[in-house]
Amino acid sequence: MDQDRPIGIFDSGMGGISVLSEAVRLLPNERFIYFGDNLNAPYGVLPEERIRELALHVTGRLVAQGIKALVVACNTATSAAAQVIRQRLEIPVVAMEPALKPASQMRHQGKILVLATPMTLKLDKFAHLMELYGQEAIKVPCKGLMEFAEQGELEGGRIDSFLERLFEPYRGLDVDVAVLGCTHYVFLKKAISKALPGVQLIDGNLGTVRRLRQLLDEKGMLREHGPGEVCFQTSGDPETVIPRMKALYQLANRSELD
Ligand code: DGL
Repeated sequence: MDQDRPIGIFDSGMGGISVLSEAVRLLPNERFIYFGDNLNAPYGVLPEERIRELALHVTGRLVAQGIKALVVACNTATSAAAQVIRQRLEIPVVAMEPALKPASQMRHQGKILVLATPMTLKLDKFAHLMELYGQEAIKVPCKGLMEFAEQGELEGGRIDSFLERLFEPYRGLDVDVAVLGCTHYVFLKKAISKALPGVQLIDGNLGTVRRLRQLLDEKGMLREHGPGEVCFQTSGDPETVIPRMKALYQLANRSELD
């Protein structure tokens, strides 16, 4: 039956597991296939064409497994490839973008920092978002940050010094909100909060998953009875990557990220 087909979720690597965990919370009866393109991560420093090629390849692997919907749990892949993925697929596709709109509503007098990969911040999709909601926003390309989440190094001296250097140019600015515009950064919330004391953090995970639920509901595709299930897949070495994926998934499920 259509409702029983799985939902595919993919990211360049581990980041989308933070979206997966939210999705399972909201849609506990569903069957999910999570695919991390760990072999080719990070996407955020690759040329646009290459990201598109990789994202289409992963999409093809998931479609071949009979998915009923696709979640692009990667801001970078969304910017480079969401449009073409939507054109090619007949199933519902939900993609992510940095949560700049809600951040602009949360802001008081201060600035918004948008933390994302260099590619997400460079492409037209984000330029459009900036025109609409970014009057007080500052782009912070975070080359090298996703690697901490990818390796499971979520706290400690090395990430603290990395963030200290990254935020150095913004010291002294009045900042209200920081947008976590890459799904990997959700795993780094504690370290980012420590480096930006008093700044509210926002990500787009819940909004994305609500949209998924709404689309499935509208199309009569929600799975009404469980049990739900999650299957992890990777383009990397399964022996090292899958246990790491499961550990991050458990962590996200225990809400230990805040
Ligand atoms: N997690 C991804 C994102 O949301 C990409 C990180 C990367 O591969 O550079 O943008």
